[in-house]
Amino acid sequence: MTSRIAFVTGGTGGIGTAIVQRLAREGHRVATNYRDAGRAQAWRERMAASGVSVMMVPGDVSDPDASVEMVSAVQKAMDGPIEILVNNAGITRDTTFHKMTYAQWMDVVNTNLNACFNVTRPVIESMRERKWGRIVQISSINGQKGQYGQANYAAAKAGMHGFTISLAQENARFGITVNTVSPGYVGTDMVMAVPDEVRAKIVAQIPVGRLGKPEEIAYAVNFFLADEAAWITGANLAINGGHYMGW
Ligand code: CAA
Repeated sequence: MTSRIAFVTGGTGGIGTAIVQRLAREGHRVATNYRDAGRAQAWRERMAASGVSVMMVPGDVSDPDASVEMVSAVQKAMDGPIEILVNNAGITRDTTFHKMTYAQWMDVVNTNLNACFNVTRPVIESMRERKWGRIVQISSINGQKGQYGQANYAAAKAGMHGFTISLAQENARFGITVNTVSPGYVGTDMVMAVPDEVRAKIVAQIPVGRLGKPEEIAYAVNFFLADEAAWITGANLAINGGHYMGW
């Protein structure tokens, strides 16, 4: 397997951590961003203890200028171009739409969707020049089916796949594949923040009968990165324990 430079945004989060660990164990050189220095340091120590070394850059993917700086810092520190990009950073601001503030709408759209522009734009040209690239968006089951209390999040997550399928068409001739992974409810802090009684009802709707594991999402992300996956582009891989089977 060829070792590549991979940038996973939001790598310190629940699903992000599993993606970082998986890609590092596959032999890639992995970088991620962070916003909170204290939390990042603790996370880095946890990664080191698990035998995973990660390059970390400070910065917020919802900020276009900061994103350009992060990409440049990663490429400088790792002495090469980013060949794998996983747009994973995401937040929730759940509330029913009639109570939603403009800030709750914008925070989610900026971090989950606009970040795809902010981070992908500075890496795409070198991927096109080199005629190789892998871009994966981490969307959500709720971008596919909608969710009570998530008009902002569902809109942003659905938009991520619109981004995927356009970028896939534009860059197919350049050896770049662009795909989406849409996780269902995975046992992360984000899902555990859903009120217990609401979460219990959601889990009851999952045919496999449990929340997903972050490693089960990382497995799918890695699948898209192989050279053998060169003909898979513009796909949306739903991984949700059977919770939503629309197509
Ligand atoms: N369908 C129909 N009615 C629903 C409903 C649903 N799915 N969910 C809640 N309601 C009803 C309640 O029964 C309640 O009705 P009554 O007033 O008649 O009792 C009413 O809506 C509550 O409405 P409120 O506007 O007062 O809601 P709230 O402020 O109490 O909280 C909420 C609403 C924040 C949306 C809360 O229900 C919630 O957190 N839901 C979970 C949202 C969710 O799934 N988030 C996913 C987070 S994880 C993630 O996003 C990762 C991923 O990609 C999967």
